[in-house]
Amino acid sequence: MKSLAVLHASQLVTLAGPKRARVGSELSELAIIHDGGMLIRDGAIVATGASAEIEKQARGAEILDAAGRLVLPGFVDAHTHLVFAGKRLDDFERRARGETYEQIASAGGGIWSTVEKTRAATEDDLFAQSKTHAGWFLQGGTTTVEAKSGYGLTLEDELKILRVIRRLTLETPLECVPTFLGAHAVPREHKAPEYLDLVVNEMLPRIVAEKLAEFCDVFYERGYFDLEQSRKVLNAAGQRGLKLRAHVDQLTNSGGAKLAAELRTTTADHLEKTDTEGVKALKSAGVQPVLLPGSVYALGSTAYPRAREMIEAGLALVIATDFNPGSSPTPSMSMVLSLACTQMKMSPAEAITASTINAAYSLNRGDKIGSLEAGKTANFAIFDCEDYRELAYWFGLSQTHAVYAGGQCVFQA
Ligand code: NIG
Ligand code: FE
Repeated sequence: MKSLAVLHASQLVTLAGPKRARVGSELSELAIIHDGGMLIRDGAIVATGASAEIEKQARGAEILDAAGRLVLPGFVDAHTHLVFAGKRLDDFERRARGETYEQIASAGGGIWSTVEKTRAATEDDLFAQSKTHAGWFLQGGTTTVEAKSGYGLTLEDELKILRVIRRLTLETPLECVPTFLGAHAVPREHKAPEYLDLVVNEMLPRIVAEKLAEFCDVFYERGYFDLEQSRKVLNAAGQRGLKLRAHVDQLTNSGGAKLAAELRTTTADHLEKTDTEGVKALKSAGVQPVLLPGSVYALGSTAYPRAREMIEAGLALVIATDFNPGSSPTPSMSMVLSLACTQMKMSPAEAITASTINAAYSLNRGDKIGSLEAGKTANFAIFDCEDYRELAYWFGLSQTHAVYAGGQCVFQA
């Protein structure tokens, strides 16, 4: 049995608390232990407490001195498009000159240009590029991500992406939770109805049979999939036993929050344009909002979603990167914490809860990750700062000192 004792953390931010996603004032309760310690055995947390207490139980354990440093559960990033080929530098430059996301997409950039590059890549090529992305997440202290397909848009290419996601979990220290996003855009070679038939009748059955996805997602937006089409995909996926997430109300308020509520999706993501009625609908259906301020920032918009209203309504808020080559090229959860505080008026504590324990529950893993509590997997990050608020306060600076997944060091600055 291999034991590890983390001792003398200036703050051991445990997030210990009720065994469910946190709402309202609970989002501010981080259950911090000052001069904190944590005992780990065989990759799992055995105990947390005052360093002096942990030290007594740590005989024979390897000692990790975290004096002067902050220890946090590994971040859980509940919305990423981690697997894609290439970059979108031309889109980036055009946006800098004032063109919008929609204008760029109709001029041949956007999701479609990444689809072309992703289709052209071999599985090994795509794995190599995605492995680089996985390393970026680990460096920032993220140990679990949700990862969507959606840049293939043919049966074979969607399978290729989902197999790469599976390989990332098996061959890198980053745990990836797979989501099928076949309905991300209508590919050039099809009209929407016939493409949807392909998604529902060919892709979904195959993906479910090969157990390549836990969730199904759709991009419900003007120019992508409409209300009926989105309902059709999500219903079909639900009937096949997948849990649901949905991109809604990002660029237009199209009642997406209400659709998510009607279909009882696990999460409704984006919500930049969601109004009070939409917030109420999410609350009554118990849907978790996943807010993605990185995409608002990178698109040069100021229309951040109404985080405060959602917290006050009692929603179990999640924040995530939306890592993708178009609208949010950042794997950095500390950047997202900064945006949550400065642009959405969340407190640093609320932002940390939303990117750890609440995100873990949204991925159906709240019993295993997202907090530092006995029995959970020893996924944690050590930062070169003393106070958790510094993670959101300094920006554009990496403060990661070391990252552990399953009790093993997977990144060292
Ligand atoms: O979440 N909204 C749709 N999908 C992504 C953008 C994907 C892309 O531009 O490549 C998003 O913002
Ligand atoms: Fe997204």
